[in-house]
Amino acid sequence: MDDPVLTLANEMYRKGIEAEMAGDIDAAKYYYAQAAIKFYQSASYVKGVAHEVRIKKAEECKNRIENLKMVATQHNNAQIQGEHIKENRSEVLEIVQPDVKFADVVGLNEVKERLRIAMVYPKKYGNLFKKYGLKHGGRIIMYGPPGCGKTLIARACAGELNLQLINGNVARLMSKWVGEAEKNIAYMFAQVRNMKEAVLFLDEIDALGASREKVSSSTVARRVVTQLLVEMNNLPEGILLIAATNVPWILDSALIRTGRLGTPVFVPPPDKDERKFLFERCIRERPVDETVDAEVLADMTEGYSASDIADVGGICEWAATMALRDTIKEGKVRKINMDDFIKVIKGGYVKPSVIPWLIEAQRKISRNPDVSRAFPELLDFITNFGK
Ligand SMILES: Nc1ncnc2c1ncn2[C@@H]1O[C@H](COP(=O)(O)OP(=O)(O)OP(=O)(O)O)[C@@H](O)[C@H]1O
Ligand SMILES: [Mg+2]
Repeated sequence: MDDPVLTLANEMYRKGIEAEMAGDIDAAKYYYAQAAIKFYQSASYVKGVAHEVRIKKAEECKNRIENLKMVATQHNNAQIQGEHIKENRSEVLEIVQPDVKFADVVGLNEVKERLRIAMVYPKKYGNLFKKYGLKHGGRIIMYGPPGCGKTLIARACAGELNLQLINGNVARLMSKWVGEAEKNIAYMFAQVRNMKEAVLFLDEIDALGASREKVSSSTVARRVVTQLLVEMNNLPEGILLIAATNVPWILDSALIRTGRLGTPVFVPPPDKDERKFLFERCIRERPVDETVDAEVLADMTEGYSASDIADVGGICEWAATMALRDTIKEGKVRKINMDDFIKVIKGGYVKPSVIPWLIEAQRKISRNPDVSRAFPELLDFITNFGK
């Protein structure tokens, strides 16, 4: 039979987690306290294992409250001491002035538009937004396969706005050992608060969700996650936040549900026209003979990322290396030809890195309906891929 006290306890516990993820420490403490009381109460109705499980849950709620108290103190201290943290922590933080613009990013028009609406227009036309009663973003989360432009477009967004980009890699922030992680985060956000305006790029944001799962028993690591979330949710107004991940299915559903980072934006692999454009650009920049056909190459490369095609170690570079090798060997200039490209693609010099990612995504979607609900664009993409 259902135990209404236990149901209430679980409900309070869930609300506590949600408040914690939303960075609302006071609300989280309140809900955990309510949950603890209800878990103790419901434990008194039962014996044996069920009794012990409920007592354990009550104790976990109490631990969570203690953690939150520590996080709140740390947050306040970091805010007071911000400028005085002297240690050299530059390795967890990189501040750059990007010189790329949206025009340098091939394709991804839908993503650019979403970034314009969430980040660029509110900044450029702030008064207009206010006039129309719009309280748009300043925050966005992007996901998609590796090498398809998430980092590039974050840099371009800062470039468009002429703002500095603060690169904060969440996995790196979190992977430092106990104590260090907390100091790193305090340091990073102290720097962020010192800047009036900037774009904060939190890459590998999934490290947050992953840690939460893995470390549910480690109070220290959980505290670190909460600390990061609290800082994230208390950013100064001039700081825009872009988060990115290539493993969206790891993201904690509470992080998505709170809507603090807006609706996740899918950064897809390049479509045929975009691949053609990438090849054309590479052809323009190199000595290539008339046999090379960008259209045919685009046809041959479904499942390849932009990085597979155009980046260091990509198809274009390999093809160029082949012609260069012959040129040096024979002492006579040989232009890059279509055979070079075909050899690279068919010979497996560069493999289509999007394919294994899509297989993994498909697996996660089929196993967990929450994933397809949270990332409808991904579901759409997978359904239509190769058609
Ligand atoms: N849309 C694009 N237009 C032009 N070049 C691109 C594009 N996407 C990726 N590239 C090239 O590939 C490189 C790697 O892309 P980027 O770092 O932005 O990928 P990512 O999506 O952030 O990958 P990861 O998930 O591994 O972090 C870029 O530096 C750029 O050279
Ligand atoms: Mg990246």
